[in-house]
Amino acid sequence: MTTLNAEPDTPVPVGIEKNRVRGGPPRSEILRRDKWWAQPLAIFSGLLAFIVYATWAALRNGHFYAGNVGRDYLSPFYSPCLTNSCTSNGYVWGGWTWWRLSPAIPILIFPLSFRLSCYYYRKSYYRSFWLSPPSCAVPDAGSTKAKSPRNKYSGETKFPLIFQNIHRYTWYFAVIFAGILTFDAVAAFRFHNGIGMGLGTLIFVVNALLIWAYTLGCHSCRHLCGGGLRTFSSANSRHFIWKNFVSKLNEHHQLFAWLSLFWIAFADFYTWLVATGAIHDPRFF
Ligand code: FES
Repeated sequence: MTTLNAEPDTPVPVGIEKNRVRGGPPRSEILRRDKWWAQPLAIFSGLLAFIVYATWAALRNGHFYAGNVGRDYLSPFYSPCLTNSCTSNGYVWGGWTWWRLSPAIPILIFPLSFRLSCYYYRKSYYRSFWLSPPSCAVPDAGSTKAKSPRNKYSGETKFPLIFQNIHRYTWYFAVIFAGILTFDAVAAFRFHNGIGMGLGTLIFVVNALLIWAYTLGCHSCRHLCGGGLRTFSSANSRHFIWKNFVSKLNEHHQLFAWLSLFWIAFADFYTWLVATGAIHDPRFF
C-alpha cells in the first residue's frame, strides 16, 4: 500500500459504542493508490454469478435427479430428495406430495443461513456489496467530508445484524447436510446393474469432500474443539483435533468457501446435463 503525504483534516474517533463514529478519511480522500478495488470487485462478481445460477437452479424444479438415465445422481440443491421425483432407484427421503413449490426452497434455507452468517462470507459481502468498508483503510461508500453515513454504526450488536450470532447453531445443521451429501456421494456408486463409477460419481465425491473441508474448518467448529478450556493438557484429544485437523482446515477456510460454493453449482449443472440427456455420463467401471 502506498500513501500520499496527507493527513485527514479532522481526526475521527473510532468505535462502535453510542455516539461514536467510524474512523478513516473522507470518501474524497482515499489514501490508497494501489488496486484496492480489485478484490471486492472480483468477490462481487463471483458471488453475484453464484446467486444468479443458484436462483435459476432452485426454481427450475426439474431434472435434478438423473435416475431416468440410470444414474443415482441427485443435485446437492435438491438433497435430501423430499418429493417422489427420485423414485426410479427407490431414492425417496420425504415423500412431500403436498409440497407444490420447488423442493429446493425448504432445503436451501439451511445451507444459505450457514453461508450467510459465515465469518468469511460476512467480510466478503460487507465489503463487496455494502462497501462498508470496501477495503482496509478505505472509507465506507457514501462518506463525505461533512458526514459519514455510518455515524450510528453499531457493528453486529443490533437488529438485524445481531442475527449473525446464529452461526454456531447453523453449523449443527451444516454437519447434518454434509452427512447427507456424503450419502449422495456413496449412492452415486450405485448403478442399475451393480456397483460402478462414472464421471458424476467422482464429481459427487469431490463435492462431499469440499463440503466437509469447509464445514469442519468453520470458526465455530474450531471453538467447539479447542475453546472453553483452561489448559489443553486436560483435553488431549480435543487439543489434537483442534491443532492438527480443524485449525489446519481453518487456515484455508476462504479457499474452501469458494471451492465448495463453485463445486455445488458445478455438481448441480452436471446432474442437469445428464438428466436432460444433453451429455452422456462416461462410466469408468
Ligand atoms: S466461519 Fe465460515 S462456516 Fe463458520
